[in-house]
Amino acid sequence: MADATVPILDIRGVSKSFAVQGRSVQALSGANLTVAKGEFICLLGASGCGKSTLLRIVAGFESATGGEALMWGKPIDGPGPSRGMVFQDYGLFPWLTVRDNIGFGPKSRGRPTAEIRDTVERYIALVGLQRFADAYPHQLSGGMKQRVAIARVLANDAEVVLMDEPFGALDAMTRERLQDELLDLWSRTGLTVLFVTHAIEEAIFLADRVVVMSPSPGRIDAIHGIDLARRRDVSSPAFNDVRRMLSAQLHSHHAPVAA
Ligand SMILES: Nc1ncnc2c1ncn2[C@@H]1O[C@H](COP(=O)(O)OP(=O)(O)O)[C@@H](O)[C@H]1O
Ligand SMILES: [Mg+2]
Repeated sequence: MADATVPILDIRGVSKSFAVQGRSVQALSGANLTVAKGEFICLLGASGCGKSTLLRIVAGFESATGGEALMWGKPIDGPGPSRGMVFQDYGLFPWLTVRDNIGFGPKSRGRPTAEIRDTVERYIALVGLQRFADAYPHQLSGGMKQRVAIARVLANDAEVVLMDEPFGALDAMTRERLQDELLDLWSRTGLTVLFVTHAIEEAIFLADRVVVMSPSPGRIDAIHGIDLARRRDVSSPAFNDVRRMLSAQLHSHHAPVAA
């Protein structure tokens, strides 16, 4: 399946417009991005830049109105288990336990029972939720719910994990911990991650490359490789240099247009 000459994701001139009350709103305009297997990409920008729209097109929830999005060279024409989405509000099934939430995908794809059991136990262990396997979502903290959401995507054999501001609803300490856990998981599994955030620091801490987006219409402004050794020290001068550069770039979008 994997072919070294074909990128796992290839976003070619992707545009998306929506009809809103009779007029057309351009959510995304001419986005180009090629992603290699195993890369950790952050999409960074203020709200309204088209970050979620781009992610939803890669997920197959929306179709592009211009250009095309390819996975392994094939047009993405709908959702599929190889691309799993993790949402800010978790999106767990409240009536299912942790174990059954994680097993839902493999079960609905008709995997054999013994295989489902092994897969579920492996991912429960991977995200450290063994003691909560029989708990329901409402019995879990936000951080734990997000671990279940990640495990659920992985149990479904996702190669690409799409994360839309996944840690946005968490307190700062839980968020930092999950950032570390996610990087650990990523480095152990070879997953490809597309992670949306509006937090500059989060993007620099996590990403191999940061894709800076800007609004009206939503578009990709620049793509920056983050050449800092991991685990990254958010208080280091080198980290600060990148933070200053990205901050200036993001704020330039709000500058008044010169007369
Ligand atoms: N389903 C939709 N219908 C109409 N407009 C939409 C829809 N989805 C997004 N938009 C518009 O497209 C733009 C980009 O939205 P979005 O992708 O959600 O941005 P972001 O995730 O960066 O905040 C916004 O102006 C938003 O209002
Ligand atoms: Mg969004």
